[in-house]
Amino acid sequence: MNKQVLLTGDRPTGQLHLGHYVGSLLNRVAMQNSGDYDSFIMIADQQALTDNAKNPKKIQDSVYEVMLDYLSVGIDPTQSTIFIQSQIPALPELMLYYLNLVTVSRMERNPTVKSEIKQKDFGRSVPGGFFVYPISQAADITAFKANVVPVGDDQLPMIEQTREIVHSFNQTYNKEVLVTPEAILPKKGLGRIPGIDGNAKMSKSLGNAIYLADSKDIVQKKVMSMYTDPNHIRVEDPGQIEGNMVFAYLDIFAPNNPVVADMKEHYQRGGLGDVKVKRFLMEVLEETLAPIRERRAVFASDPAQIYRMLEEGSEKARLVAQNTLDEVRDAMGLNYFG
Ligand code: TRP
Repeated sequence: MNKQVLLTGDRPTGQLHLGHYVGSLLNRVAMQNSGDYDSFIMIADQQALTDNAKNPKKIQDSVYEVMLDYLSVGIDPTQSTIFIQSQIPALPELMLYYLNLVTVSRMERNPTVKSEIKQKDFGRSVPGGFFVYPISQAADITAFKANVVPVGDDQLPMIEQTREIVHSFNQTYNKEVLVTPEAILPKKGLGRIPGIDGNAKMSKSLGNAIYLADSKDIVQKKVMSMYTDPNHIRVEDPGQIEGNMVFAYLDIFAPNNPVVADMKEHYQRGGLGDVKVKRFLMEVLEETLAPIRERRAVFASDPAQIYRMLEEGSEKARLVAQNTLDEVRDAMGLNYFG
């Protein structure tokens, strides 16, 4: 019985937030718990370094934080192989061979990289490593022969590019060595959570995120500062629920809850104040966040254990990736001495 292989990961450039949670962590935990997958979860420190070369300490610290986030949402190292990208030497070697199969113009067309280059204002000064990170991601995915990659929709161009590389490699070297992966997107209605400021995307760089590790106090402050309806000034005024973050979050975290339906109706009619709805959202969010926070505190009490788990996971992952690399070198005729 062959299980499907799942690989996914995150760049460690800080702690994970609710955007990561609904965008992909929920899917990963569910898939892990289904028992149908051989799961690999990677902390992509090398990818994080592609635009943080001068900040290695930030990346190093974030590896630990992201691992805590993983464990606290229920990614379980006895069921999933959790590992650190830089500990797997086969990955950059695979990337090197794949780079010969893609053109600069193809890499320039990757919409996610394109918009990141714009957002970071890199222009032509984009670091080479950053420019080619989708190819490193293709190495991550193919090294484990992953057929499923649970990610947010911003990662679709990476999966697309990986599929092209798989096709090109297998055809060029005339052997079905690599496996074509498929993206697994979040359930409908989930997936993208807006920022607390009303921006369409929750992100660290926009400063509009609620982190899984935020204390109850901080979450409360953030919820109270959420963007609602700027024209809803007095309680008795009718309010808008479209573009109102409090209701947007309730739709995600309390879907089909009749209380929310009542509140929406009341809010639109007038007579329901923002603070009341925010208090309710706070309760709803705490149902998700409180258990995560508690588990985080337990794991954080033993940092040595965290690194031991990562070391064990990385050792396991190293063997799997090395196996694929051996096959790749073989297909390419690079095994000169038998
Ligand atoms: N690009 C992903 C991010 O931005 C991280 C990542 C690196 C990844 N390698 C991967 C995701 C392989 C899925 C599969 O966080």
